[in-house]
Amino acid sequence: MRFQTQRPASWQVCIACGNEMVETDPHPRCNVCGGLLEIHHRPPHLTPAELLQRFTERRGGSPGANASGVWRFREIVLPSADAVVSYPEGNTPLLHRVVLDRWSGVEHLLLKHEGHNPTGSFKDRGMTVGVTQARRIGATAVACASTGNTAASLAAYAAQGGLPALVLVPRDGVPTGKLAQALAYGAKTLLVRGDFDDCLRLVEEASEHLGVYLLNSINPFRIEGQKTIVLELLQQLSWQSPDWIIFPAGNLGNTAAFGKALREARSWGLIERLPRLAAVQAAGAAPFARSFAEGFVERHRVKATTVATAIKIGNPASYDRAVVAIRETNGVVLSVPDAELLEAKATIDASGVGCEPASAVSLAGLRQLVRSGQVKPGDRVVAVLTGHILKDPDLLLRYHQETDPPPPGANRPVEIEPTLAAVERVLHEKREQ
Ligand code: F0G
Repeated sequence: MRFQTQRPASWQVCIACGNEMVETDPHPRCNVCGGLLEIHHRPPHLTPAELLQRFTERRGGSPGANASGVWRFREIVLPSADAVVSYPEGNTPLLHRVVLDRWSGVEHLLLKHEGHNPTGSFKDRGMTVGVTQARRIGATAVACASTGNTAASLAAYAAQGGLPALVLVPRDGVPTGKLAQALAYGAKTLLVRGDFDDCLRLVEEASEHLGVYLLNSINPFRIEGQKTIVLELLQQLSWQSPDWIIFPAGNLGNTAAFGKALREARSWGLIERLPRLAAVQAAGAAPFARSFAEGFVERHRVKATTVATAIKIGNPASYDRAVVAIRETNGVVLSVPDAELLEAKATIDASGVGCEPASAVSLAGLRQLVRSGQVKPGDRVVAVLTGHILKDPDLLLRYHQETDPPPPGANRPVEIEPTLAAVERVLHEKREQ
């Protein structure tokens, strides 16, 4: 259908067939053709200057939902929402470390660290909006498939919103930190004998047949929340666009959200120029990079393998939205081998910043783009780190204790007798190295 009268403040549109649905329609996909949905908003009734003034006031304002790094931008996220379920989330730092400039090859690299969110990943930004919407439409339960972070985030926000949560994760390969969170926050946790792509197919079927509200990033309200990673970093840069935003890409929710945020920010007069997006995949899970290399003539699917379990995804759900985002921003998509992402991670960790493995593809990808000359050393680059260092402690311990051969930056613990002489010996050894 199409609205015949004036459109409401926000509504849903299928990006495949143009079908329009009301904002409170609970279908996770277009109810005509099954395509991906996108939320459209009427342009804000405020001028750009008035909007920016509001965002500034709320940033330093009193505690509560308006101080959230998501709901601060409510006019361009979900204007009609009230009774929001907010931790609050967002307000993550933009960091700079000279060692990471040197490693990547750009002169002044900024890191937007989304691991500083309440459950340790950017997922909280989409989940606060998704669970708020679930309550608005009277959902009785919420569900997702996940490589771990979405599950942890959904579990936490569902607990806060008083909704039962069901999470489907691959039986093998979900890092300890993430699984522990999902259990602790109280989600019913299903360990599926299959990979993430199997979990996603299954949860979509479950949402259709069992009446649970789907909160994967297929859900367009999740995308609205994730837009605020970009809105917040633009605000931190006084609305002066950087040249590049570089970030990890798995199921492609963020790629879609970043493109939409930039498109809207420009059309509503908040920024003048679009940064270029650079989406980075792990080489063993790079169907989107492969499609990009061929000019997006074909949608590829692969059997994914990578140590970066968060982005071990072979059939990304937001593919169609992400193609638009890359095209509109003159963006690029690339992939990095596991050895490089692990080296990048060890460098980020040793700088004192720390992040989970998938996040480090941002830095590894940036080094590749600098070496190939696509990114110039003087370009203004923001790299997004998507998750916290403690999400995947098992990988860290394996990495730092590997001896055959020790990987770059490995830092083996040393077992000693409880004597001063033993401590002294280790101290001297360190100095001699
Ligand atoms: N980084 C981290 C830490 C993630 O957890 C994910 C996705 C991504 C990057 C990729 O983002 O899917 O928007 O392209 N994690 C999902 C999950 C799949 O279930 O937690 P994307």
